[in-house]
Amino acid sequence: MRIDKAVNIADLHRMAKRRLPKIVFDFIEGGCDGETVLARNENSFSRYGLMPRFLIDTGKRDQSTTLFGRRYASPFGIAPTGLAALYRPRGDLLLAEAAKLADIPFIQSGASTASMAAVIKTAPDHAWYQLYAPRDQTITDDLVRRARDTGFGVLVLTVDTQGSANHERNVRNGFSPAMTVKPSAALEALLHPLWGAAYLRHGMPAFEDWRPYAPTGASAKAVAKFFTAAGRVGLTWRDVERIRGQWPGKFVLKGILSPDDAVSAAECGVDGIIVSNHGGRRMDRSPAALDAFPAIDAAVGERVTLMLDSGIRRGADILTALSLGAKFCFTGRATLYGMAAGGLAGAARAIAILRNEIDVVMSQIGCTAIPQLGPQLLFTHTSRVE
Ligand SMILES: Cc1cc2nc3c(=O)[nH]c(=O)nc-3n(C[C@H](O)[C@H](O)[C@H](O)COP(=O)(O)O)c2cc1C
Repeated sequence: MRIDKAVNIADLHRMAKRRLPKIVFDFIEGGCDGETVLARNENSFSRYGLMPRFLIDTGKRDQSTTLFGRRYASPFGIAPTGLAALYRPRGDLLLAEAAKLADIPFIQSGASTASMAAVIKTAPDHAWYQLYAPRDQTITDDLVRRARDTGFGVLVLTVDTQGSANHERNVRNGFSPAMTVKPSAALEALLHPLWGAAYLRHGMPAFEDWRPYAPTGASAKAVAKFFTAAGRVGLTWRDVERIRGQWPGKFVLKGILSPDDAVSAAECGVDGIIVSNHGGRRMDRSPAALDAFPAIDAAVGERVTLMLDSGIRRGADILTALSLGAKFCFTGRATLYGMAAGGLAGAARAIAILRNEIDVVMSQIGCTAIPQLGPQLLFTHTSRVE
């Protein structure tokens, strides 16, 4: 199937699955433990309906959205995802480029396989930086300084990665960021020749921004080992306050699910929170982000800009989250499927699909601009669709 024939995110999902070896596709696709929260993420959106409204002129619709004083063309952006160049060479930069072309934000991952400088060169006005704060405070402070000096306007600190998570698919497949390609994986690569040829040409991508901290001349595998060993345990609210003090721009926490944590975040002076369960990749008993959202909104919605990710596969999902009170949404897998399946054109296709779905639904719910969304348009379904 040609990328421009994909009519929805599920089509891009199928195309990505076909192109990638199982070990790589499973890394993107998988959640933790029994993957129940992964399913809950998507189901949480389908519990809500959006009420059709008629006899309102919706001929001119505008989905542009103002976030942190800046206008974006759509109410969603691209969430940070590590190891993107493993799915396709220059994967991070393809996503950044697609975001720039679509005029939406792109969050560079703290486990990015491109450098900060390359991302800022690609998308100077659209790139945010996501920080993974390791145990060694001097590395954290240096990453914050480099992100500031490179020109990122928004810093996102991911807080939900303390300790390890049990990704059963990765355990079964023998996947790790520092993996060596084993004979079984090599056979898989042969069965997926487009991916295999690119991997042979470019090799295992490295966590570029971590090179300065790893031993001089370290291989990609050694940098990945260093990154993993650097750990992300021990981060506390005192670190959040310290990083807040170092960052002159907008400062966002990602991965908050509890209203108490949201209140602590507000007290530390954060500008925004991305309510998220990391796409179901951290703890299987955690709530769906959408289910956690209302209590967080009630606790800090007046003081902090609330955004949301986890489970978005349709434009209607984004409109649902915004109607519930979120100011903005982010997509992880949806745009990754597009990029993995079709490079820049595929990432652009994923954005265009979601954008078009938003537009179509706006026309059906009597909505011509994003600020008109609200709880008056939402209802909960009483009949179930299996
Ligand atoms: C393959 C993959 C890698 C990810 N890497 C990161 C990361 O490096 N940093 C981070 O904060 N979140 C990471 N996430 C989580 C995403 O930022 C986002 O929270 C999640 O994908 C949203 O759920 P969705 O995939 O259902 O849209 C990753 C997610 C995936 C699927």
